[in-house]
Amino acid sequence: MDSIIEVQELKREYVTRHGFWKREKRVVKAVDGISFAVRRGEIFGLLGQNGAGKTTTIKMLTTLLAPTGGTCKVLGWSTFGEEKRIRARINFIFGGEMGVYRRLSARDNLRYFSNLYLIPRKEQDVRIQKILGLVELAERADDLVETYSKGMIQRLQIARGLINDPEILFMDEPTVGLDPVGARMLRDIIRRLKEDGKTVLLTTHNLAEVEELCDRLVVINKGKLIASGTPAEIKADSETLEDAYVKLIEGVSA
Ligand SMILES: Nc1ncnc2c1ncn2[C@@H]1O[C@H](COP(=O)(O)OP(=O)(O)OP(=O)(O)O)[C@@H](O)[C@H]1O
Ligand SMILES: [Mg+2]
Repeated sequence: MDSIIEVQELKREYVTRHGFWKREKRVVKAVDGISFAVRRGEIFGLLGQNGAGKTTTIKMLTTLLAPTGGTCKVLGWSTFGEEKRIRARINFIFGGEMGVYRRLSARDNLRYFSNLYLIPRKEQDVRIQKILGLVELAERADDLVETYSKGMIQRLQIARGLINDPEILFMDEPTVGLDPVGARMLRDIIRRLKEDGKTVLLTTHNLAEVEELCDRLVVINKGKLIASGTPAEIKADSETLEDAYVKLIEGVSA
């Protein structure tokens, strides 16, 4: 199988109610018929403006949200209906969200999450030590998370996402709010995941990061796909990927 993720005509609508009696119904087409495929071992970027539909797409790919149209298959299984086949083999990290216990150490957090995945005790310690090394937290592993910097917490979240040794890791804005050094460390970690054979799907608003990391990407705008390809293909004749991206977005809003 060469596509590890296959998205076809995927749609998700949200219905919200407004007005005094909540009688006025509004339908938001958050994802409006997008198709793309991700190959095993790729770092794949999902780009788009605020509200474009990226998080909604990731939620459907990670089996957390049902599509209202189209299909998405992960590891050959449908994310809706066959989600049990998928869950043990993927993981996700939503940037900004805590998702870790501040009053525990990094190691104890990881022990807790490995228990949830029913990883045998003997295997846990080895796996946790390896992951702590990968995210460069080994030295502080036994300090309480409440003493960590934002960058360290974000790296711990990645560690948490690796605890079940997933084949695919989904990351929603993994470097948001990090300083340049911290963001670079995180990009190095993402590259190491690729070297380890993992597939990574990520969102980011940092175009330089996309250029540095992503093998291929798609750009979505108001729920629709407006571009796809390698960073070099998207960049085409523009000076930078950011220039090309801005032109793309301005082109569709004109
Ligand atoms: N639970 C919800 N109920 C109603 N509307 C929603 C809900 N979640 C998202 N939306 C709407 O769906 C659209 C897509 O939102 P989504 O969070 O997927 O965008 P995004 O691309 O992740 O944006 P950002 O870059 O700001 O994170 C937006 O118009 C948003 O307001
Ligand atoms: Mg989002």
